[in-house]
Amino acid sequence: MAAGERRKILVCRQTFDEVIEALAERFDVEHNQATDAPWSADELRRRLADKDGVLTSGADRVDAAAVADAPRLKAVCNVAVGYNNLDVAALAERGILATNTPGVLDDTTADTAFALMLAAARRLPESERWLRAGHWKGWKNDQFLGVDVHHATLGIVGMGRIGQAIAQRARGFGMKILYYNRRRCPAAVEKATGARYATLEKLLRTSDFVSLNLPYSPEAHHLIGAEQLALMKPTAVLVNAARGGVVDDAALIRALKDKRIFAAGIDVFEGEPKFNPGFLELDNVALVPHIGSATRATRMKMNLLAVKNLVAALSGKRPPNLVNPDAWPKRRR
Ligand code: DGY
Repeated sequence: MAAGERRKILVCRQTFDEVIEALAERFDVEHNQATDAPWSADELRRRLADKDGVLTSGADRVDAAAVADAPRLKAVCNVAVGYNNLDVAALAERGILATNTPGVLDDTTADTAFALMLAAARRLPESERWLRAGHWKGWKNDQFLGVDVHHATLGIVGMGRIGQAIAQRARGFGMKILYYNRRRCPAAVEKATGARYATLEKLLRTSDFVSLNLPYSPEAHHLIGAEQLALMKPTAVLVNAARGGVVDDAALIRALKDKRIFAAGIDVFEGEPKFNPGFLELDNVALVPHIGSATRATRMKMNLLAVKNLVAALSGKRPPNLVNPDAWPKRRR
């Protein structure tokens, strides 16, 4: 790099002005503030061609093709804890560092999962739609009867930071907590959360609420499908605030339609932002558009953490949230 030349970076999606300002202090910034329109794969590839770093959202796919014409690219910094949109192996092969934003969104995402649990159990979206439509004529004993969240059994699938934050909330509701994780958690975590380890099958059979909080991976694809839904109680509620694809959405729609389970609360969908239109025909599902971490404070923290990762990477320092450590020894300089 010539003396005085500034690194060039790309910010794929609209973000807070403060974030652009922080970046502009150090870098030449190309951004998407005006339209926020997602770029096509070709457009992204073209824009990456002269860049040293990029801030991506979880909706931007960055794979081998995306970086094929980007010889200077050193870091891809996701503004998300999930990074299944990045082909981290392909990036590592080329010495491109990939980072995510763990930790800063745990409580906010746990709040969303809990809100979905309550909304689905107590039929909030359905009864609100009914009220708005002018159907309410008076109090009735059996109007919109739901299921109790307090003192019920919660099964948490994926006991990472977000799963543990959900367990903390569940304790306040006097819930019994089971969890399933690829690896059993240390005793200290079990003690702090009051959660007991169970197999996935036992968890599905015995829980009144099942909250999915695991990252997407090929192994987790359709972890919850027709067979698993059939194990759940007919009074049970499923919450997915993890990733689309962890649940077989078509199977879930069938289970909800046939009242195989009581209800579901869904923040993430297979193939989003498109989703299976069958969901819209159901009353027993609370649907929100991937807003798990969507508070101003948390989104700001996520963006600033992504900036911190980018600054470290472009200063030759190991970024705090490197997700492809294989890239480090062959990093581009
Ligand atoms: C994440 O951080 O992975 C969220 O899904 C993005 O909102």
